[in-house]
Amino acid sequence: MRTLVTSIVVVAIVTLALNSAAAEESKPKDGSDKYGFSYGGGTEHDKPSLAKDDQEKKALAALDEMARGRWYLNITTREGRVLRQLVETTGAKRVVEIGTSSGYSTIWLALGARASGGKVFTHEIDPKMIKIARENFKKAGVDDVITIIEGDAHKTIKLHKEQDQQIDVLFLDAEKFGYIDYLNQLLPVVRPGGLIFGHDMHKRPMPDPRFIKAITTDPNLDTSFIMMECFGISMTVKKR
Ligand SMILES: C[S@@+](CC[C@H](N)C(=O)[O-])C[C@H]1O[C@@H](n2cnc3c(N)ncnc32)[C@H](O)[C@@H]1O
Repeated sequence: MRTLVTSIVVVAIVTLALNSAAAEESKPKDGSDKYGFSYGGGTEHDKPSLAKDDQEKKALAALDEMARGRWYLNITTREGRVLRQLVETTGAKRVVEIGTSSGYSTIWLALGARASGGKVFTHEIDPKMIKIARENFKKAGVDDVITIIEGDAHKTIKLHKEQDQQIDVLFLDAEKFGYIDYLNQLLPVVRPGGLIFGHDMHKRPMPDPRFIKAITTDPNLDTSFIMMECFGISMTVKKR
């Protein structure tokens, strides 16, 4: 009896080992899963952002703490770094974000905006998230660069038209089926040469086909998709 049990255990272990080796072998080499959904991943060249001064050190420490803590549907660190770079290099003065959540992406945008002498206006509907985001902005030392606009963004974004201020960078990261309305309402106030980013352009969560159509079939817009990580970002330039 004991020999039989030992044999069963040995066979089970060998089978498990063979299956896991086979699964490893069948993984696509480009980092995507069987659905073609890429998880990106670091390269050996990736290093954390380095702080140039104490102000930046404070912000990076807060971002690091957020990245290690609870996940509030935030963008990835790599996406945040790229957004920051694009905000800074385009010299953006007015950055508008739809969907603040805990403020992780907002802090990256704010780092770019602060460097270019700009401001970030971020829209959020959930009072719980607004409270958390406020605390995070303070902790990161970027609260002076950020204005939180509370309420349903479909209504509150009207203020950008009323203030008649051109938007340099627009980042859409709220409910996916809202993107088309945000785009339609705000495109007239995005400056020529300005950038519109849409988050979650990969397969999960599924982007709204109406938004994809709007940013890929208008000759006044030029769009590329940055699929660096699992979520994917669309980057659209409003042509001059
Ligand atoms: C994916 S999370 C944003 C994540 C954040 N951009 C980040 O990366 O750190 C989406 C947020 O959009 C907010 N949201 C959804 N519908 C909204 C609306 N109509 N107006 C304003 N905010 C909305 C949600 O409450 C949620 O906090």
